[in-house]
Amino acid sequence: MDKLLFWVSVLTSLLEAIAQTNMTGKVFIFPEESNSAHVSVTTQLEKPLQNFTVCLRAYTDLSHGYSLFSYSIQTQSNEMVIFKSQIGEYNLIIGGDKVFFKVYENFPTPAHICASWESSSGIAEFWVNGKPLVRKGFRQGYSVGAHPKIVLGQKQHSYRGKFVKSQSFVGEIGDVYMWDSVLSPEEIWFAYQGIHIEPNILDWQALNYTMQGYVVTKPLKWS
Ligand SMILES: *[C@@H]1O[C@H](CO)[C@@H](O)[C@H](O)[C@H]1NC(C)=O
Ligand SMILES: *[C@@H]1O[C@H](CO)[C@@H](O)[C@H](O)[C@H]1NC(C)=O
Ligand SMILES: *[C@@H]1O[C@H](CO)[C@@H](O)[C@H](O)[C@H]1NC(C)=O
Repeated sequence: MDKLLFWVSVLTSLLEAIAQTNMTGKVFIFPEESNSAHVSVTTQLEKPLQNFTVCLRAYTDLSHGYSLFSYSIQTQSNEMVIFKSQIGEYNLIIGGDKVFFKVYENFPTPAHICASWESSSGIAEFWVNGKPLVRKGFRQGYSVGAHPKIVLGQKQHSYRGKFVKSQSFVGEIGDVYMWDSVLSPEEIWFAYQGIHIEPNILDWQALNYTMQGYVVTKPLKWS
């Protein structure tokens, strides 16, 4: 019996170790409003972050607020959030504080979004379709906490969970990447073009994720 349990646990950890998917050319579709459907993305981030960049692509026809990327830690559910507050405005939240970025946009249009932040200056950058928005600064000297729960499709109101239906994402998300550095303008442009800039926190080409509720993966049909 002990032997059987041993092999079961070996098999389980093997399956977990290889539970990485190359999502190139695919998207997650969140087909309907919900207070449960989401994707949890796993990363082995052991140390707090002084610098980071997150990029992703999204296509939606929602006009109310929704979360694109929700990163919570045990002590702060809004440790880092990329939030679309309304048409023409994005928010970046770090450690519960928020800055906004205005963008001129046609609606609805697919968007490639990158958000980055540097602790030493507090400067936050936001890029839409390879173009920089006006930079903001906040949370200078802060570090973004380690051991995150990262969720796509919902905003976390606690460490891994408590979702609000009216803030759920309905639409398509793909090309999610995260680096522990601030990417250069050239690297952002490459990411926008779909060129792989080796990430070290989240890699869409080796994504460790679980889907909960009504979420579907399908080939990317826009970009
Ligand atoms: C994938 O996620 C599972 C569950 O969170 C974790 O146990 C495993 O170590 C991860 N695998 C890799 C290769 O990151
Ligand atoms: C974060 O960025 C600053 C300024 O670019 C740099 O001096 C520092 O070494 C970086 N920190 C880490 C942990 O990479
Ligand atoms: C993922 O798939 C794409 C397209 O098939 C390929 O170009 C890329 O090298 C793959 N990445 C990894 C890490 O295997």
